Amino acid sequence: MSKSDKTVVITGASSGIGLGLAEAFLKEGYNVVGSGRSAGRLQAAAAQLNAGERFLGVAGDGGKPESAKKLFEQAIAKYGKVDVLVNNAGIFSAKPFIQFTPEEMEEQISTNLKGVLYPSQEAAKHMSERKQGKIITITASLGMQPAGNVPALLAVAIKGGLNQATRALALELAPFGVTVNAVAPGVVASPMHAPESHAALGRLHPLGRIATIGEVAAAVLYLARADYVTGTVMPVDGGFSAGR
Ligand SMILES: NC(=O)c1ccc[n+]([C@@H]2O[C@H](COP(=O)([O-])OP(=O)(O)OC[C@H]3O[C@@H](n4cnc5c(N)ncnc54)[C@H](OP(=O)(O)O)[C@@H]3O)[C@@H](O)[C@H]2O)c1
Repeated sequence: MSKSDKTVVITGASSGIGLGLAEAFLKEGYNVVGSGRSAGRLQAAAAQLNAGERFLGVAGDGGKPESAKKLFEQAIAKYGKVDVLVNNAGIFSAKPFIQFTPEEMEEQISTNLKGVLYPSQEAAKHMSERKQGKIITITASLGMQPAGNVPALLAVAIKGGLNQATRALALELAPFGVTVNAVAPGVVASPMHAPESHAALGRLHPLGRIATIGEVAAAVLYLARADYVTGTVMPVDGGFSAGR
C-alpha cells in the first residue's frame, strides 16, 4: 500500500479538467485513481503526471456499471480506501434540440448521467460503511441557468438534474458522515473547446472571459477539504448563472 494516506478517484482524468484535477490532488499528497475510455490516453496522462505509484489509470466506459465497480475495486486493492470521488468525465454538444439524434442522446445519457450515477453508487456504499467521504460532481452552469444563445438541451437536462441529485444524495448520505457537492463551471479552457473560440465564449460570461482549469480545481479542492459543506452546487462561471 502507498504511503499517502488519502485517495481520490477522478473519472475522465486523461484530459482537460480531470487531468488538471489529478495534478492538483497529487500536489495535495493524494493518491489518484483516474479513469477514461482510452488506455493509451491514460498512459500518456500517467507519463505527464510522473507520479509513479501514486497514480493508477483504470480504463473503461464510465456509462457501464462494471466500469465503476472495477474502478473502486482497483482503487481499494491498491490504496486501501477511497476518500474522495470526483465525477468529472463528460461530453458536451451545443445545437438546436431537434438536431440531436437518438444515438447522441443515448451517448450523453450514458456518459454524463449513468457515468455519474454508477461511480456515485460505488462511493456511497464504500463511504457510508467507513462513515466518511466526499463525492464531488462537475456539472455545468447551464444546468442552473439555460441560455438562449447556447442551445444545449441535453446538457441543461442532465447537468441540471445532477445539480438536484447532488442535493438529494447529500441528504441521504448526511447521516453517514459523507458529503455530496457539485461544482458548476461556465466555459473552461480545456480541449473541449478550440482555442480560437475562447475569446467569443468569454464574452458570454459577465466577467468577460472563460475559466482556467486551475480555477475549477481550486473549487474542487475546497470541497474536498470542507467537512461542514454538503448539498451545495458551487458555480465557477464568471457570473454566468447570476442573471442577465
Ligand atoms: N470544458 C468546459 O467548458 C466545461 C464546462 C462545464 C462543464 N464541464 C464539464 O467538465 C467535465 C470535464 O470536461 P473537460 O472540458 O475536461 O473535457 P475533456 O477535456 O474532453 O475530457 C473529458 C474526459 O472524460 C473522459 N471521458 C469521456 N467520455 C467518457 C466515458 N464514456 N467514459 C469514461 N471516460 C470518458 C475522456 O477520456 P476518453 O475520451 O479516453 O474516454 C477525458 O478524460 C465534463 O463533465 C464537462 O461536462 C466542462
